[in-house]
Amino acid sequence: MRYVMKGGTPLAGEVTISGAKNAALGILAAAIMSDETVTIDNLPDVRDVAVLLDAFREIGVLVDRVDRHVVKLNGGNIFTACADNPSIRKIRAGYYLLGALLGKYHHAEVAMPGGCNIGTRPIDQHLKGFRLLGAVHENNNSRVILDAKELRGAHIYLDMPSVGATINLMLAAALARGNTIIENAAKEPHIVDVANMLNSMGAKIKGAGMDVIRITGVERLHGTEYTIIPDQIEAGTFMMAAAVTKGDVTVRRIIPQHMDAISAKLMEMGCEVNEQGDSIRVVGRPTLYSCNVKTLPYPGFPTDMQPQIGVALCLAEGVGTITESIFENRFKYVDELRKMGADVEVVKGTVGLFRSVGVLHGADLVATDLRAGAALVLAGLAAEGITVVDNVDYVLRGYEDFDKKLQGLGAEIRLAENEEDVKKFKFRMS
Ligand code: UD1
Repeated sequence: MRYVMKGGTPLAGEVTISGAKNAALGILAAAIMSDETVTIDNLPDVRDVAVLLDAFREIGVLVDRVDRHVVKLNGGNIFTACADNPSIRKIRAGYYLLGALLGKYHHAEVAMPGGCNIGTRPIDQHLKGFRLLGAVHENNNSRVILDAKELRGAHIYLDMPSVGATINLMLAAALARGNTIIENAAKEPHIVDVANMLNSMGAKIKGAGMDVIRITGVERLHGTEYTIIPDQIEAGTFMMAAAVTKGDVTVRRIIPQHMDAISAKLMEMGCEVNEQGDSIRVVGRPTLYSCNVKTLPYPGFPTDMQPQIGVALCLAEGVGTITESIFENRFKYVDELRKMGADVEVVKGTVGLFRSVGVLHGADLVATDLRAGAALVLAGLAAEGITVVDNVDYVLRGYEDFDKKLQGLGAEIRLAENEEDVKKFKFRMS
């Protein structure tokens, strides 16, 4: 699958942001820890969610997709604590089944996590935490196997504020005996959302969103109804789309506070950013100015917005830098931007120097991971001429109706199944 687009149209209008993918994945895992029915609303209709729901079906979870954005789950009939199939190996969040199944059944066997190749992405902090909670761990046939006679609360210090480890340990500790403290916990909005969801199921979790999370284990989790928060990264991607196309876009149904780091950088680059209720309007200016960006855990600038702001820096006056401090392999998209005429140098794999080229030119590109794929689409929409972004299955993993939402803002973009579709689009646009 590929996106084909003609750049040059300033995007304008309103776009409604879907539920947060990364929150959804943790929340779905939390839901199967109850034997009662859990209803989840504002579920994003993206591939990663579909893959996780398929994995649930395979272990006996009753999955009732009420509509695109609502699912009812019942984990009362789970018949195995082993989740392994080819598709779950492709996503990152399969690892939440470790915390969920270990917490509920004291046993979990899950395929080694996959996900985007943006770095080595070890799970040592997850495993350290599980061990402290009383589990023994082995790797077998590229599965992670965890087993515990009982789970006891523990004091866990994370070496770095890992999002995945924090969620996984909250899941397992929610049903452990006694008190757990997670120190140096991640503070991303989806950490708070998963904690709120678990609490609505009867868990006792305090401090989510802060450095120290305290959990008092409970015996069981009950059913609930829960609405997922809006997706910070999807919203940020559309805000950046407004900046790079010099457009005027309002992102609706978001939590503006989650966008603070992104809004601040857009203003520094010369865009107008106005918050109103649950919306933010971004008005791009004829001239963008360079800035320096360092990716950091929340509330810092998110690594998942790094490629998107990289595109803006290619078009901004002056020399901008991005220092990537979370993942070591996040600049692969730069090779693709160079095909469009970008002038970017990556020093030691962690610092990108973006020199202004004023204009990008349409080219044939390949998405190298999920966020890079979205960023290349932004580059194509800002560029002169036609751009084809191949390998967009990555993008479909995490963005709901990306092409349709962009079309709603006036973008000339199509999702093309094959070369024939690309040719037709080019003919229409010529
Ligand atoms: C999650 C998100 C991903 C986002 C990332 C950082 C999901 C499904 N994915 O990924 O979109 O880019 O947070 O916001 O929610 N680390 C270790 N050992 C561990 C765990 C992490 O060394 O056990 C390191 C990682 O290599 C990385 C850093 O810690 O350098 C942060 O990783 P982490 O927050 O765990 O990211 P993910 O949960 O994989």
